[in-house]
Amino acid sequence: MTLTDATNAHPSNDDAAPASQPGRLAPIEIAPETFVIHDTFAPPGAPGAVHMNSMLIRGAQPVVVDTGAPTNREQYLEDLFSLVEPEDVRWVFISHDDVDHYGNMHEVMAACPNATLVASWFACDRIAVDRLDISPTRWRWLNDGESIDVGDRTLHAIRPPLYDSPTTRGLFDPTTGVYWASDCYATPVQGPTAFVDELDPDAWAGGFQTFQAWNSPWVTMLDESRFAEACSVVERLEPRMIASCHGPTIGPSQVDRAFELLRLVPVTPIPPQPDQMALDQIVATIESLILPLPS
Ligand SMILES: [Fe+2]
Ligand SMILES: [Fe+2]
Repeated sequence: MTLTDATNAHPSNDDAAPASQPGRLAPIEIAPETFVIHDTFAPPGAPGAVHMNSMLIRGAQPVVVDTGAPTNREQYLEDLFSLVEPEDVRWVFISHDDVDHYGNMHEVMAACPNATLVASWFACDRIAVDRLDISPTRWRWLNDGESIDVGDRTLHAIRPPLYDSPTTRGLFDPTTGVYWASDCYATPVQGPTAFVDELDPDAWAGGFQTFQAWNSPWVTMLDESRFAEACSVVERLEPRMIASCHGPTIGPSQVDRAFELLRLVPVTPIPPQPDQMALDQIVATIESLILPLPS
């Protein structure tokens, strides 16, 4: 389905999310009028997968929270506009300037004439190095610690304790208790997974530690007590649920465990990243699957 098709066929806001398709998760309403839009990405040779999720807060002034990866553009736009009319979208919040978060930003802003891009000076500066073809008259800058009134609620931009871009801010909605953590509190998966309580607890813990440390390798330089202070910024919000781009949603029964796991990241041994030997094995596997052409 093209963007034109997607924007021309919008059920009302009361319609349910589209049915599941094999190998993917349809959007899920994790809290009232708050939907996680799922994507699961598995690069060639990867032992598992990682989510590339985004979110929609369908309040009085609907807020798109990150815009998914370009690799999932058609499905993302179909999912998003099955939940909200493009003309109703008022805000497009970009957590930071990585393409898995702003990858469909131009398409969403083009489809949503009443939307304002919620970013920051630094995020706009860094995105513009690639491409930022959205008029500054449609920008709003929202820094860490600042808030934005979206009609029926006030959302708070709160940087998560770990991140891979200096522009990162999460987004907390006190009306639902949902915190969008951007790249933090994430974990790899074997396949599409909506909630962390679907994972084996040990697999979740191991994947969680590894993901945080690989995505924020500077965490090993941190003073443990100072890092704990950074963790407490999010903990004091007392979020009921934590949704993130790269992990299943952390439900109410698992939030405290996620806080514990994150505080342990600086002192947890982390496995090395795949090296050239791993790439050699991937290439050998690919080559073994290619049949020689008949002479
Ligand atoms: Fe990132
Ligand atoms: Fe990311």
